[in-house]
Amino acid sequence: MRVSELASKESRVTNHSDATPQYVITAENLTKRYGDVTAVDSISFRVPAGEAFGLLGPNGAGKSTTMKMIGGVSQRTSGSLHIMGLDPEQHGPEVRAHLGVVPQQDNLDEELKVRDNLLVYGRYFGLPMSYLKPKADELLEFAQLTDKAKSKVDALSGGMKRRLTIARSLINEPRILLLDEPTTGLDPQARHILWDRLFRLKEQGVTLILTTHYMDEAEQLCDRLIVVDKGKIMAEGSPASLIREYSTREVLELRFGSERNASIGAELEGIGERLETLPDRVLIYAHDGEAALEQVTARGLRPVTSLVRRSSLEDVFLRLTGRSLVD
Ligand SMILES: Nc1ncnc2c1ncn2[C@@H]1O[C@H](COP(=O)(O)OP(=O)(O)OP(=O)(O)O)[C@@H](O)[C@H]1O
Ligand SMILES: [Mg+2]
Repeated sequence: MRVSELASKESRVTNHSDATPQYVITAENLTKRYGDVTAVDSISFRVPAGEAFGLLGPNGAGKSTTMKMIGGVSQRTSGSLHIMGLDPEQHGPEVRAHLGVVPQQDNLDEELKVRDNLLVYGRYFGLPMSYLKPKADELLEFAQLTDKAKSKVDALSGGMKRRLTIARSLINEPRILLLDEPTTGLDPQARHILWDRLFRLKEQGVTLILTTHYMDEAEQLCDRLIVVDKGKIMAEGSPASLIREYSTREVLELRFGSERNASIGAELEGIGERLETLPDRVLIYAHDGEAALEQVTARGLRPVTSLVRRSSLEDVFLRLTGRSLVD
């Protein structure tokens, strides 16, 4: 019998159309303090089965701390938390049987070969070899690492290690996958391969909980997300709804040179709906960016470069906190 069948026979979540949605994770006023530092400050959220749910925020926002509490490896200071209806502090092993965990730092066994990493990890769950061997091969195929099965882990690239960590997290066929910064530090191609794999898991109905400080990753992968900063939830919604609520349709980015960017604001007054001055550029928030640019040039202003683009979650974050996501 497979571990997911063993563990989740009673509590497998099914969505009945006539019932209220079933949540696989509920957090209420979840708080974690380290001494004087409040890493997670009374956050509440609920995640329905099958959703890709994101925590988007800058360094130190409390993302990993939240993930560790969900994963049952960090005790909360206060508040409540339930995974498949169970408190991870009371029911650690049962909760862990539902979860796949991809920590922020890969913690693969560098000494072991790629395939053996999967087998050894599976043994921690008490899974029999008769299950693990074909499962390991299936997961290596999924992670596009079949030809690396016999390589040592330290010979893998960063992207391959990340895929192996994800493969390893799937060994117990979890219904919920926790991904802490799945693509940080990877090049664009490696990120796209990973995103594709995560999409496939989502298609299979796996609930994805992921943290990121990349707005494009959040926009690509998340059905819904919370924007977190300094341990608090600043906003919650789908990427599109957050952009609608907190930004304009388009943004005009202007560069006037590092000397002038800071002082040009007064001369741009009245163009667009809102103006943000960053050290390297000025952002004009407007429904129609080209029209805004015409107004700029009509005033005799000549930016060194100009760019019209769609609003993104980066703009949402800037609006909410006055800061950039990536510093
Ligand atoms: N074990 C710990 N002991 C003391 N303080 C901690 C500990 N772990 C985290 N913190 C603090 O809690 C806050 C939140 O940290 P956390 O790692 O959750 O942030 P994060 O959003 O994951 O950031 P990053 O994007 O850098 O990974 C930070 O101020 C951090 O210094
Ligand atoms: Mg982190």
